[in-house]
Amino acid sequence: MKDYINPDFKHMLHGGDYNPDQWLHDPTILSEDMRLMKLANCNEMTLGIFAWAALEPEEGQFNFDWMDKAMDDIHAAGGKVILATPSGARPAWMAQKYPEVLRTTEQGIKKLDGGRHNHCFTSPVYREKVAIINRKLAERYKNHPALFAWHLSNEYGGECHCELCKQAFRVWLKEKYGTLENLNFQWWNSFWSHTFTDWNQINPPSSIGESKIHGLRLDWKRFVTAQTADFIRCEYNSVKAITPNVPATTNLTKFYLGLNHREIAKEVDFISWDSYPSWEGDDGDVDVARNTAMCHDLMRSLNKRPFFLMESTPSVVNWKPINKLKRPGMHMLSSLQAVAHGSDSVQYFQWRKSRGSYEKFHGAVVDHVGHENTRVFKDVQSVGARLQKLDEIVGTLVDAQVAILYDWENIWVLDMAAAFQRDDKKIIPTVNKFYDAFWNRGIDVDLIGTQDEDFSKYKAIFAPMQYLVSEELGKKLEAYVKNGGTLLCTYMTAMVNENDLCHLGGWPGAGLRKVFGIWNEEIDTLRPDEFNTVRLTDGSTVKAIDYCELIHREGAKVLANYDSDFYSGMPALTVNNYGKGKAYYVAFRDEGAFTDKIVGEILSETNVHSAFDGDLPQNVTAHSRTDGKNIYVFVENYNRSTVEIETTHTWITVDTDEKVTGKILLEPYETLIIKK
Ligand code: GAL
Repeated sequence: MKDYINPDFKHMLHGGDYNPDQWLHDPTILSEDMRLMKLANCNEMTLGIFAWAALEPEEGQFNFDWMDKAMDDIHAAGGKVILATPSGARPAWMAQKYPEVLRTTEQGIKKLDGGRHNHCFTSPVYREKVAIINRKLAERYKNHPALFAWHLSNEYGGECHCELCKQAFRVWLKEKYGTLENLNFQWWNSFWSHTFTDWNQINPPSSIGESKIHGLRLDWKRFVTAQTADFIRCEYNSVKAITPNVPATTNLTKFYLGLNHREIAKEVDFISWDSYPSWEGDDGDVDVARNTAMCHDLMRSLNKRPFFLMESTPSVVNWKPINKLKRPGMHMLSSLQAVAHGSDSVQYFQWRKSRGSYEKFHGAVVDHVGHENTRVFKDVQSVGARLQKLDEIVGTLVDAQVAILYDWENIWVLDMAAAFQRDDKKIIPTVNKFYDAFWNRGIDVDLIGTQDEDFSKYKAIFAPMQYLVSEELGKKLEAYVKNGGTLLCTYMTAMVNENDLCHLGGWPGAGLRKVFGIWNEEIDTLRPDEFNTVRLTDGSTVKAIDYCELIHREGAKVLANYDSDFYSGMPALTVNNYGKGKAYYVAFRDEGAFTDKIVGEILSETNVHSAFDGDLPQNVTAHSRTDGKNIYVFVENYNRSTVEIETTHTWITVDTDEKVTGKILLEPYETLIIKK
């Protein structure tokens, strides 16, 4: 069973952001682009992302000639086009004529025209202008044979605090709460005399206004997501009404906290994202690899289909404090890493380096020198050649048996809590530590949300720092364990509900106290120079850092106790049999080794294994995709040296169609792609 993003073209896509509108003055460049595209083994161009000024130079005056030619040329060169809607940046005439399209900051300052992503998502004028240009594009290219997919805008993000947005926020709140009385209660506004008596008294959070009502801040973030999603829906509908069969995506940005990506994901047909890890060519690259792997898994898990790596750099970016080149071999490895985690494309920002302005030194396939005889071009060529041999993997899925909970709303509320390590609770780094345990063992994992997910498909679920647990989620987790699932939660579990009101009656709340068989009475936050020692029943010890919860046993089995301080002897790790399942509670934070160990033990207990049968040496991992019949395994070596792996199966290499078994050598940075 395969799931194709566009069944009309069953190949890995290889290409990138193409901006011919920057080169219209030089037709030789444009024809050279087509020669080079074929030479680079590229079969795709993402066209028109920031091309609004070239498409509509004056209000209502459109010029599609250059785009017609680009579409035709790419088609003639055997390529496909992902066609962008240009709403990420506006032509200058628009803000001059309609200032309402500009954003207002959280301090109420109307922004000046310029940059990009500087528009109000509520503005009816902006929405109308976007719909007009989008419909023109769709009408014009609906039957073009090169059209593969829609790329809606670019990296939606940011927020606007103008009067239009404020009003829309109030309407959204009214719909949600019905009455001010209800809103005041859910936001706990009796605190500090914050009770509202008129909807118009409510403003978005601001550093010069209200910033302490956490319910308001949480709802504002939800509103920003909802408003952005609504804007995306307008964009989506404007093109899909004309081209219903052309899939649409928008390029996401992994951990970006301004939007709940799970909601944004519902507005598009497939997921794509932009990945710019800092590969530095040293030992730190293994952490970069793990973190990037987690991002790929997070993005794939948004809808559990194949996704696209919409942007990456073939060599270097320009916006980091230090912009280091990718070392030889890393471009191939990092590109195949995306495919290993479920991507059906490798795409770049950008095709040809701009001659001027902000991104002129950002890596691109074609450098300022203008020809193919560059290291980077050859790297791209090799990736393209390898992707051409992976047709049979296109459309295959990742079938993970375990999951980590990753919930944007949980991160928002816990981040804003005035408590614990107030300014940095290290939520994402904690998730990273759990993720690393899977990566180190070559085990596929999904990063799932709390709402629209079927928990029962997973043998074990890991939920680090799941502080926000609604009654509904509490019931869902309870049912999961009762029916045989294994759940691991940590310190800070289920402290607040969906409105950021504390659960009363003891933590973990939302009915989870009985599931874990414990009561968490208090949390001790340690200074960076402090630690406690946790002693496990086998006599081994673990250093507990940052957080130690004072928990009481209420039926659970104690697996470890604190060894010092006034809570010495209290439980630090417990497990509870509940229904047919098991619930582990880790009451402290460790430096990582213990997290790795406990995850490893739960994986053995639940019989979850890597798709690769042999032991994986350090810094080598394996990930798999499947069509239901064949399993495709990517074994990735992040060592800068050759390593040996061993298998008892007989595998077939996907790109060279050879049998491999027994001892296999992996070159530095090599990815072996095998199937069985
Ligand atoms: C992305 C953006 C691209 C380009 C790139 C540079 O965030 O979508 O347009 O600016 O960064 O790394």
